Amino acid sequence: MENKVIDEKRQGEALHVAPGKRKPGKKMFIESYGCAMNFSDSEIVASVLSEKGYTTTGDYKEADLILINTCAIRDNAELRVRNRLKEFNSVKRKNPSLMVGVMGCMAERLKAQFLEEEKIVDIVVGPDAYRTLPDLIESVEGGQKAVNVLLSRDETYADINPVRLDSNGVTAFISITRGCDNMCAFCVVPFTRGRERSRDPLSIVNEAKSLFGQGYREVTLLGQNVDSYLWTGGGLKKDNPSAEELINATTFAQLLEQVALVDPLLRVRFSTSHPKDMLDDVIHIMAKYDNICNYIHLPVQSGNSNVLERMNRGYSREWYMERIRSIRQILPDCAISTDIITGFCGETEQEHLDTVSLMEWVGYDFAYMFAYSERPKTLAERKFKDDVPELEKKRRLTDIVALQQKLSGECTRAGVGKIHRVLVERVSKKSEDMLSGRNSQNTVVVFPKEHYKKGDYVNVLAETCTVATLIGKAV
Ligand code: SAH
Ligand code: SF4
Ligand code: F3S
Repeated sequence: MENKVIDEKRQGEALHVAPGKRKPGKKMFIESYGCAMNFSDSEIVASVLSEKGYTTTGDYKEADLILINTCAIRDNAELRVRNRLKEFNSVKRKNPSLMVGVMGCMAERLKAQFLEEEKIVDIVVGPDAYRTLPDLIESVEGGQKAVNVLLSRDETYADINPVRLDSNGVTAFISITRGCDNMCAFCVVPFTRGRERSRDPLSIVNEAKSLFGQGYREVTLLGQNVDSYLWTGGGLKKDNPSAEELINATTFAQLLEQVALVDPLLRVRFSTSHPKDMLDDVIHIMAKYDNICNYIHLPVQSGNSNVLERMNRGYSREWYMERIRSIRQILPDCAISTDIITGFCGETEQEHLDTVSLMEWVGYDFAYMFAYSERPKTLAERKFKDDVPELEKKRRLTDIVALQQKLSGECTRAGVGKIHRVLVERVSKKSEDMLSGRNSQNTVVVFPKEHYKKGDYVNVLAETCTVATLIGKAV
């Protein structure tokens, strides 16, 4: 059985837009699947359409327009979308003027084919074409179905002020790059999101300042590989920038510093780091600023160098271990999490055991774990046989999930008896009298509310814990 909890966490819970102020006009319902990048894109779409008079609703049954922001990373991510479309179908039968649009990675992957496969769909729009949504909607109003899946070399939506959806008012995402230039053999993202582009650092810093001014206290900088961020003045990253261009360029470490300098009370996180590109400059900047959180998500995928080579990840087990040693040395208090795939093409039992031993060696705080799912068009689909039997993939997955459960428990327990600086994000789901937030290491901490509120920094002494949550009291 696939590990549902962890997979769903990664997929992200479906996001329902909080009901906006009721104005006369059209209502849209946006639901997002997949990674943080998709959730962030939905906020760009909400902004584009709010200018066209659309307000948001949390109830799809009263919407004039349903948009579903899709993920294509694994087969089950796509299945979930297909099932959801079936549910929307019953509403459309009662209300034929309801418009249904699919956006995001599955839209990009399937293109116009989507219209043939799912009769309910009116609009198919890829990740780089969201500015054209008003035109696409007009076509549908004129009786035509509409598709735009053009990928771009320079679109970063830098000038669009996202409408924060489903927000706690404390934490927000800021996209810093789009697309991906790596060709990991298993991965569909380069096909669905196109070439890597970096966004103007000035627009990023301004967005962080504006969020801080509105009361936000934490931003997460987003990219498929944040370490390869490089601003040389716009457009595609050059393969061979000149010496002069490099001197004037902004690297990820420099960007991180600029965002950290916005205000000491604004926490900064980032995701995702790529082991081949995450060098010591970034770790040193993290160590220099208290408000950059001590947490690195460093997906390893496999602990065996031959598998990593087949995956085309660009690093070996030894290189990865060296990166971990650097983190431990420069930032001893840093939490580390990872992504792992079990049962990639040709993975032997011994190779699987190398993943197990690496997990134990690192002692990950957290991990997202997946059984390999072959994706059309990828290097692996063209070059290798998907030859690890499904049951065996799942057995290996179950193994590492159990191990990670133990490792996570140990990491959380190590925080008991210590004082944690917690940024309060919300009232706890379990009790009205408790607040919930996270420490710098990204562990959830809950404690009695007293007079504290959302957006406060509170020092909490952890007294006890569950596998993933510290429980304590303010001191
Ligand atoms: N850019 C990030 C990963 C984005 S996708 C990085 O390079 O780390 C998120 C995770 O999904 C990946 O880290 C990988 O563990 C998993 N994943 C990607 N493609 C997959 C596939 N075909 N089957 C199973 N898991 C996959
Ligand atoms: Fe996919 Fe690799 Fe790019 Fe991550 S770095 S998005 S795994 S191709
Ligand atoms: Fe999924 Fe696309 Fe993100 S495939 S994981 S939504 S980049």
